Amino acid sequence: MTGSAAAPVSRQLCPRCGKELPLSFAKSSCPACGGLLEVRHAAPGRRGLELRRIFGDRRGSVDVLDASGVWRYRELVLPDAGRDVVTHPEGNTPLLRLPRVSSWAGSPELLVKHEGHNPTGSFKDRGMTVGATVAKRLGARAVACASTGNTSASLAAYAALAEIPALVFVPAGRVAAGKLAQTLAYGAKTLLVRGDFDACFALALEASEKLNVYLLNSVNPFRLEGQKTIVFEALEQLGWEAPEWIALPAGNLGNTSAFGNALRDARDLGLISRVPRLAAVQAEGANPFARAFREGFARRHRVSAETAATAIRIGDPASHDRAVTAIRSTNGVVTDVTDDEILEAKAIIDGSGAGCEPASAASVAGVKRLVREGVIRPGERVVAVLTGHVLKDPGILLRYHMETEPPPPRANRPVEIEPRLSAVEQVLREDR
Ligand SMILES: Cc1ncc(COP(=O)(O)O)c(C=O)c1O
Ligand SMILES: [Zn+2]
Repeated sequence: MTGSAAAPVSRQLCPRCGKELPLSFAKSSCPACGGLLEVRHAAPGRRGLELRRIFGDRRGSVDVLDASGVWRYRELVLPDAGRDVVTHPEGNTPLLRLPRVSSWAGSPELLVKHEGHNPTGSFKDRGMTVGATVAKRLGARAVACASTGNTSASLAAYAALAEIPALVFVPAGRVAAGKLAQTLAYGAKTLLVRGDFDACFALALEASEKLNVYLLNSVNPFRLEGQKTIVFEALEQLGWEAPEWIALPAGNLGNTSAFGNALRDARDLGLISRVPRLAAVQAEGANPFARAFREGFARRHRVSAETAATAIRIGDPASHDRAVTAIRSTNGVVTDVTDDEILEAKAIIDGSGAGCEPASAASVAGVKRLVREGVIRPGERVVAVLTGHVLKDPGILLRYHMETEPPPPRANRPVEIEPRLSAVEQVLREDR
């Protein structure tokens, strides 16, 4: 016995100035320089094949931690979380081969990782289980977030599970119906802010600093630890054979940053031998990161964001700097696609029976564009992440299929009929 305290398993680190902080530090930015904090864990003591076997053995177990597609990878997420985690459980999402989608994108080796299969219908649950666990451990009085809708739905559900009051800031009139309905149903105090997402975020940040509520936006480094597991799970589903590319929609850039960190961990721990390239895809009307990429990240851009893909309607992404690191360290690319391309991709994905919300379809639209530009080659394996469920945005679906004039090429107009068999026969005849 030396008498010295054991080193903590995990710590928070400011990548900008190197300052270290304990896990109990409850703000998302560095008190010395304002940089966003990251969580770093001690090496798990096992690597490569052994670590793969540990993760694999947990699959199918009913143990509360092993049953979660996040906590199954706990050594790389929050090693000392203990057993008192706030879990629904989440993750365990499918990796799908959708021939019609691959053929439309010109990418025969395309697979989609469908994060809409999470408990509240989006990938946000993977980060929220970790964020809510930390909030509970810190004894947070309340939790808060600004949101384009999915984060608020997820926060509301996990806060309810943890029995912590939740406060959400969403742009008034600009949140998809499914997401707003969920947030209300799970019981969060919902503030409809007369402004855009960026205004909501500034307000949530100020509230967290002055009103003593714990901020659970993706600037919170624990959220990103959970979101890393999208990558771990996809790699495991591929037998740890890394694909050439991972494509994802990009808004506030938390997920892009999390993916970069996950690939760093997977490479450093010998889980994979080659790092896939990230392809971050923005909507053309909300493309500050794509603009910055085209200039070699020489400067940061801010835009006034407008796109039908409301989840990524963000003009001033909070995680810009760490997402730059993610793109650079994976030799990645950033592209943007028009709303027409997003909606066409969505119609193909919906029509394949998988379905997704508009922002999710940006990943597949981005793959098609990158194939056309010769950046992604047709023989390369691509995993495109579908970030949210088709039911998240019923409004856009009803407009597309029932109202838009002239009907878009893939509109599926319903037919109103009298309650008679002859009317059914007539519809079948006309359909031939
Ligand atoms: C469905 C969906 N896709 C993509 C994103 C973008 O993720 P990020 O903001 O981490 O870039 C979001 C964020 O709200 C989302 O809800
Ligand atoms: Zn700092």
